Amino acid sequence: MNFLNIDDLTRDELDDVLTRASDLKERTARGKTAEAMNGKTLGMIFEKPSTRTRVSFETGATQLGGHAIFLGPDDIHLGHGEPVRDTARALSRYVDVIMARVFDHADVVELGEYATVPVVNGLTDDAHPCQTLADLLTIKERFDGFDARVAWVGDGNNVCQSFVLGAAMVGLDLVVATPEGYGVDDAVLDRAAELGSAPDVVSDPETALEGADVLYTDVWVSMGEESERAEKLDAFSTAGFQVTEELLGDRLLMHCLPAHRSEEVTDSALESENSIVWDQAENRLHAQKGLLASLL
Ligand code: CP
Ligand code: NVA
Repeated sequence: MNFLNIDDLTRDELDDVLTRASDLKERTARGKTAEAMNGKTLGMIFEKPSTRTRVSFETGATQLGGHAIFLGPDDIHLGHGEPVRDTARALSRYVDVIMARVFDHADVVELGEYATVPVVNGLTDDAHPCQTLADLLTIKERFDGFDARVAWVGDGNNVCQSFVLGAAMVGLDLVVATPEGYGVDDAVLDRAAELGSAPDVVSDPETALEGADVLYTDVWVSMGEESERAEKLDAFSTAGFQVTEELLGDRLLMHCLPAHRSEEVTDSALESENSIVWDQAENRLHAQKGLLASLL
């Protein structure tokens, strides 16, 4: 099976991945490796830069007894004339699982159609399901389950869209605040409603934060949106979306990272005691090990 969107998993499969992730996290803490990828290879395609996704997948493969190959934009023919479907079919003859970070979500769908090994979405312009796995693991650890209210304060982007679906699957109480014109796609809200419940949607951060245990934010200008930078910075700052310590209050702060300090979040909020972003980043590693173990 492929993991292109968080809801490619059933609720039971999602629970299974998160349980495996916790077990593997404990195992790693005890200095033990696992065997889920013994003799197996992960191919990692990157059209965009990455710190966490690249390193957590590569390290995760090692910790599972396998191997990972980094395939950056200048390393392979994809993007230089070879079609996605040919890359998918050739790579499938070598590796046991493919992870891809690409711009166009349709490309990861095409990879999934033509590959004969599982394909994992490592972020597209529309979705970041691996991030959602780590986010749910982080919330589950903090709240001993999903009985928490989360306020998304920021862009209705890829990270937000996957989180909306993941939250609906596990029954998290979610409210999404985005400036007018930067909301989550209607199709995602409809899908969330089918999966459990669509989040409350507002355009004011203060309203979103009423009764919230967690504030989750992300950059205002995602990779590939550089031409919209001036316009987006203006819209988000004018609408009061910058996460300061004052806005955060006593809530926990989540951020998928990388953070653009002084844009969506202040340095002091990100460095504050309420910030759990490093635990969240670490959980990318364990959540993806859980995913790889489950897929393989
Ligand atoms: N959160 C996340 O995916 O980070 P990278 O862009 O560093 O991989
Ligand atoms: N929304 C951000 C997430 C980076 C992990 C981006 O797409 O650039």
